Amino acid sequence: MSKKKALTVRVLLSEQEIANRVAKLGQEITEKYADLGEPLILIGILKGSVIFLSDLCRAISLPVELEFMGVSSYGDETESSGVVQITQDLTRPIKGRHIILVEDIVDTGLTAKYLLKHFRSSEPASVAMCALLEKPGKSQGHILIDFLGFSIPDDFVVGYGLDFAGLYRNLPHVGIVETAD
Ligand code: PRP
Repeated sequence: MSKKKALTVRVLLSEQEIANRVAKLGQEITEKYADLGEPLILIGILKGSVIFLSDLCRAISLPVELEFMGVSSYGDETESSGVVQITQDLTRPIKGRHIILVEDIVDTGLTAKYLLKHFRSSEPASVAMCALLEKPGKSQGHILIDFLGFSIPDDFVVGYGLDFAGLYRNLPHVGIVETAD
């Protein structure tokens, strides 16, 4: 019988650490947009941002609308291909609206860079970026993250929306994938 490598996940950010930070991000966003006078649009990028977005939007004490964009850049690979494909578009116009792009992670920054440019071409009133995680040493080109959860080391992470070959998104924490013989 062949010996299969087992995957283990070492906790990097606990459920409680994430909850505390998300609550703070919600407060920051609430304060920054307090005088908006119209609903803010949070745009979650499928699929990874779904868990973060669902907690974040409930930490914001302002009227918000939710939109989703389907984007595929990795497939089942662990490294970015650099190719960004839109697989699902917004359902409403964003022209003249205040939007926040919500991502689970900015890794190489290629996806965020593409999406920010894409959204700006629709002439929203303002565009901001919110990401739970970023890998500072890895970003290609400068991506300004207005609302950031955590800077993390350049390890492959899963959980709280982030996957490995489609799995682990439902872990309540963020962990580093390790292989063991
Ligand atoms: C992940 C993540 C970001 C992107 C970031 O998505 O959700 O969208 O990669 O990587 P980058 O900064 O190197 O461009 P992925 O393509 O894995 O799809 P998923 O959200 O469906 O897991």
